[in-house]
Amino acid sequence: MEIAWQDWVGMMIRWLHLATGIAWIGTSFYFIWLDQSLRRGGQVPEGVQGESWIVHGGGFYHVQKYMVAPERLPAELHWFKYEAYFTWLSGFALLGVMYYWGAESFLMDPARTPFSAPVAILVSLAFLAGGWLAYDGLCRSAVGRHTAVLALAVFVMIIGIGWGLTQLFSDRAAFVQIGAVIGTIMSANVFFVIIPNQKKVVADLKAGRVPAPAFGLQAKQRSLHNNYLTLPVLLLMVSAHYPILFAGAASWGWLVIALILLIGGGVRHFFNTLHVGLRGAALLWQWPVAAIIGLALAIFLTSRGSGISLAPVSEARVLAIVDRHCVSCHATTPANNSFTTAPAGVRLEGPEDLRRFATQILNQAVVSKAMPLGNASGMTDTERAELGSWLRR
Ligand code: HEC
Repeated sequence: MEIAWQDWVGMMIRWLHLATGIAWIGTSFYFIWLDQSLRRGGQVPEGVQGESWIVHGGGFYHVQKYMVAPERLPAELHWFKYEAYFTWLSGFALLGVMYYWGAESFLMDPARTPFSAPVAILVSLAFLAGGWLAYDGLCRSAVGRHTAVLALAVFVMIIGIGWGLTQLFSDRAAFVQIGAVIGTIMSANVFFVIIPNQKKVVADLKAGRVPAPAFGLQAKQRSLHNNYLTLPVLLLMVSAHYPILFAGAASWGWLVIALILLIGGGVRHFFNTLHVGLRGAALLWQWPVAAIIGLALAIFLTSRGSGISLAPVSEARVLAIVDRHCVSCHATTPANNSFTTAPAGVRLEGPEDLRRFATQILNQAVVSKAMPLGNASGMTDTERAELGSWLRR
């Protein structure tokens, strides 16, 4: 008996990552909403910036936000930070199990990756650390003093990192990795800036000093970035399921990443505007703009054909291609030792199988080059086009 450890471990970590991610993003959405729903007026204690009344779960909550801090600290103070930390830790572990453990299959593209597997892993790690250092540097530089200029700089920086990744790694890995770079920036914002600043404020209060407002402002700037990055990072994290997104990443992946940032950021902006209480014209443009960009993205990506024109392809030819490039894994009893059953339940042993899985095959091996995994058999663009032309008949 051989246990498929990579799958089992990967599955458990993914489960954890989903749960921690939901907890983090859930609290993050809640606090953003809370912040934006604070209203002034009425009788509020000294130092209170605003208050919000909430009904939920059979009772009423009355929340007041103190800016910078209350005069005296309560005996019990709740912090929200482990959601972010464990999301990062579980995400990093998942990256390790999927893309480092299986580096040759998932991380690397033999036609592109100029490194051996260990070096590729180090480069991937360097991107995670480098992304944070570059971002943090930008925020602390003169650029960081202007919200809009900084936002533009961070946007361009992420696209630049995305472009670099798509030149070095497999299409699929590059997309997950840009998600990981953004996720790292977001968690590091919590770990290195937001929470430490909050701790300084608390320490000042305990020592009877007046905390400097700069700590709070810096934390708020980072929170704002996290807010706008939430939706894009979610899609990038699940992009591995959508080869339609990462197909051809080396050529135009940077543009796809840019558009995902704009769509996700636009939708986020809608909710931010709604929650501060604006109505009418202020809310009209975000969804239409996101929808138009989404439509443009779909049309653009669909129009990118391989440009290879072919004579009609015979069934025998297609079976030979699949036999050469797919069946070692996608069989009832795979010849490839890494698998005991057909991966993802996809068996490709005869023409009926090909018809049954036609859409998935098109997405995985024709529209994108996600399959054959790691392309160890060196499937060519012409073979992909042949497979595609037969499947689309
Ligand atoms: C080295 C082994 C290997 C080879 C060769 C291979 N695959 Fe796969 N395939 C996998 C694995 C592993 C998965 C599961 C992917 C994952 O975990 O994301 C998979 C998944 C798939 C899926 C399902 C994707 C989904 O989730 O919808 C399709 C379709 C597919 N492969 C088609 C192909 C085709 C077509 C070929 C040949 C051109 C091919 N594969 C060659 C290992 C392989």
